[in-house]
Amino acid sequence: MDKLIVATHNRGKLREIKQFFCDLPVKIISADELGEDSPRETGKTYRENALLKARYLYDKYRIPTLADDSGLEVKILNGLPGVYSARFDGPKATYESNNIKLLSRLGNKSDRRAKFISVIILLSDTIYQSIGKVSGRIAYNLSGVSGFGYDPLFIPLGYQKTYSELACKKQFISHRAIALKKIKKIIEKL
Ligand code: IMP
Repeated sequence: MDKLIVATHNRGKLREIKQFFCDLPVKIISADELGEDSPRETGKTYRENALLKARYLYDKYRIPTLADDSGLEVKILNGLPGVYSARFDGPKATYESNNIKLLSRLGNKSDRRAKFISVIILLSDTIYQSIGKVSGRIAYNLSGVSGFGYDPLFIPLGYQKTYSELACKKQFISHRAIALKKIKKIIEKL
């Protein structure tokens, strides 16, 4: 395989995926570079959404296509925001407004357990799937500047810092890194 489409418009995800595959002899092409928009994420699961994002571009270009659908599941909120993580604060949500909403929904509650999940689909002649999960907790305040989304609020288990504060270390321990590891092995063989 010498080319891979990454079906995302999320710059944070794209940066992490490109960095993860930086030592592969594969040209990574993003949905933006193709001038493509994104399909509506109508799926009820991460897998359905990842598959529909990948299929949208694979059916058109017939180049192996990777898509990530991910979310943050907060235990005391019964798994919310989950598949709705990007739009937790409504259709016009921003990372900032989602984080503020999450903090206000949690208030001072002491049970702040949460997990991040990434489902990656690699679509070519076959559908390959990989899942990465990281448990942790939600901080009481936003901390750190790097990364994207809920990174300033999520403290992975075994650490005292948020994904944002962990900065480039996130790249080795994150839910996405876990899922990408398996996909990388598959890409190396294709
Ligand atoms: P989707 O997979 O495009 O539906 O969006 C996933 C949403 O989950 C993002 O917009 C972020 O809000 C959040 N998210 C997914 N992965 C991460 C991550 O690694 N860090 C922080 N937020 C994330």
